[in-house]
Amino acid sequence: MPMRLWKKKLPDRQDKPFKERNKITGKALDNKTIDVIIWMINNGKIASLDYSVSSGKEAVVFRATTPKREFVAVKVFKYETTAFRHMNRYIEGDPRFENIDRRPRSMVKEWASKEFANLNLASQAGVAVPKPILLRENTIIMEFLGWDGVPFALLQDVVLSDPKKTFRKIVSFMKKLYKAGLVHADLSPYNIIISLDKDSLETPCIIDWAQGVMLAHPRSQEFLQADCQHVADYFAKLGVKGATAEEIIRKIKA
Ligand SMILES: Nc1ncnc2c1ncn2[C@@H]1O[C@H](COP(=O)(O)OP(=O)(O)OP(=O)(O)O)[C@@H](O)[C@H]1O
Ligand SMILES: [Mg+2]
Repeated sequence: MPMRLWKKKLPDRQDKPFKERNKITGKALDNKTIDVIIWMINNGKIASLDYSVSSGKEAVVFRATTPKREFVAVKVFKYETTAFRHMNRYIEGDPRFENIDRRPRSMVKEWASKEFANLNLASQAGVAVPKPILLRENTIIMEFLGWDGVPFALLQDVVLSDPKKTFRKIVSFMKKLYKAGLVHADLSPYNIIISLDKDSLETPCIIDWAQGVMLAHPRSQEFLQADCQHVADYFAKLGVKGATAEEIIRKIKA
């Protein structure tokens, strides 16, 4: 009797290259980036890339596992992005990025290094952020904010137990940032993760720092005003008193 062979498609399309099999992450995992991931594995920084937590215009965030079986987040900035004009707005005028190579591939690396530098600055200033671990080319390894391997939710998607307290905490972080000379420049409920400790205590952690600028940047006050407005709008809707952009700015600069 003839054997029945491969009537079905190959499972998981293993006949196709990884890029084609995985449309979501394919754009991020070009050959150069795969080299970076392989370097990370060969150098014991991670043992595996587990799955993509999120995929956006500029970056894909993965959960990865380290050789010690701990979770980390790996953020890959896509070389195939169309956001160069957007990047330029935040890089131009930042004294830390004066004489950089503006070719597309280099810009993406600068963008990743800007996120890494800002994460370090914010963390040193006492702001709750995912702890930055390693920068290599267009890729960052940072602390994974989650429980049991599942990422915590964004402020946008949670019902806070004490909105007033979270508001105060966020304003206190904004003040620390300002004192450290940094403005996030894309602060909103989409870039704040609500992390929970084992007693379910909520802490807002600020993520997504690539566009953050120093106060020396000519548009820093405009970006700061927008950050305050986004935070104020969100908490005003929850009925928190004092949630206006003017009040937040006053507190930050006090
Ligand atoms: N350290 C982390 N731990 C757990 N989840 C994370 C972490 N960093 C980011 N995430 C998740 O990945 C998502 C995207 O991260 P981030 O905001 O940094 O990227 P992004 O620049 O906004 O990407 P894009 O704007 O291109 O969508 C977040 O909304 C969050 O859900
Ligand atoms: Mg974001």
